[in-house]
Amino acid sequence: MKAAYIERTGSPSVIQYGDLPDPQIEPQQVLIKTGAVSVNPIDTYIRGGANFWELPQPFIVGCDLAGTVVEVGSAVTELRPGDRVWASNQGLLGKQGTFAELCAVDADWVYPTPDGVRDEDAAAVALVAITAHLGVIQEAQLKSGETIFVRGGAGGVGSMVVQMAKAIGARVITTAGGKAKADLCRELGADEVLDYQVDDVATKLLEYAPEGVNVFWETLRDPDFDMSVASMAERGRMVVMAGRDARPEFPVGPFYVKGCSLHGFVMFKAPAPQQRACAADINHWLAQGQLRPIIDRVLPLGEAANAHQLQEEHTLQKKSSLRGKLVLKPE
Ligand SMILES: NC(=O)c1ccc[n+]([C@@H]2O[C@H](COP(=O)([O-])OP(=O)(O)OC[C@H]3O[C@@H](n4cnc5c(N)ncnc54)[C@H](OP(=O)(O)O)[C@@H]3O)[C@@H](O)[C@H]2O)c1
Repeated sequence: MKAAYIERTGSPSVIQYGDLPDPQIEPQQVLIKTGAVSVNPIDTYIRGGANFWELPQPFIVGCDLAGTVVEVGSAVTELRPGDRVWASNQGLLGKQGTFAELCAVDADWVYPTPDGVRDEDAAAVALVAITAHLGVIQEAQLKSGETIFVRGGAGGVGSMVVQMAKAIGARVITTAGGKAKADLCRELGADEVLDYQVDDVATKLLEYAPEGVNVFWETLRDPDFDMSVASMAERGRMVVMAGRDARPEFPVGPFYVKGCSLHGFVMFKAPAPQQRACAADINHWLAQGQLRPIIDRVLPLGEAANAHQLQEEHTLQKKSSLRGKLVLKPE
């Protein structure tokens, strides 16, 4: 099979595209013929050497995929050849990744793709939607009628947070870089959008939410906690989930006096049953058209190195150069 893989960590150019042996499934696994995969920032960190676990050799990059089951292990009862499915959380903690024509995946991590949802769309939402669900519903416990601020409403995670928050009846304030992305956020349902390229976000946020926001979701890798704590309401919940190397100052006094709480998590440490519960809601929202995948472009799988380069420029170098997910398809 064709696959995008690495034999050593490094820059995007270490990604090779070529033939690897077809994977053999274990009893608890299914073999999926890949229809589409998507790029996440974590793919670039792992390829760059940020993994704190041993990588399979060679290591196929990627966490997300959608496709069709072609073979089922002897211990798998819920899935059959021909089922359309999606999965996330691959390529992590020692597991093989997804950027290949065929993937062997533990059935625990495989979810049905709703009728009418394309592989491109299911792959585009996988990791980012599970992350948003874990944060919005399980960590921050956002309620109908509350106000959430999410930084980066046109981003991978941010666009999912905006839509899930609207689906549960919250008021959403978000930021975007430029008019086109601000318009996109409004299309996704955001009530107020600040253009961080021209607006003073801290000042405007206090205008839009004078009592403070109930949930502050930070997606930036270098958070400004003075700004975020100042804009939170009493008993506010802050979600942090980015910026491994960030060591910003933290305004302890203003934070605890308001009775706020801080919620940090990585999606890939959430156990399979917890992620499956997220996937059930995500599938419901996808089927109802309440969760819209945002895709910047679809590339051939052979362009994985280029896709990593584009993702790094956008997320790490903050070039704001993408408008949605990078999706790749086997040729
Ligand atoms: N903890 C976890 O489980 C978890 C899961 C997924 C992702 N993450 C992390 O969360 C972060 C976001 O992930 P993602 O997939 O959403 O990435 P992404 O799609 O690249 O989104 C990045 C966001 O940052 C915004 N942004 C860029 N430069 C900015 C600036 N100067 N000021 C304000 N906003 C700016 C972008 O806005 P514009 O496009 O509008 O410019 C975009 O919305 C990454 O660091 C990722 O590693 C963590």
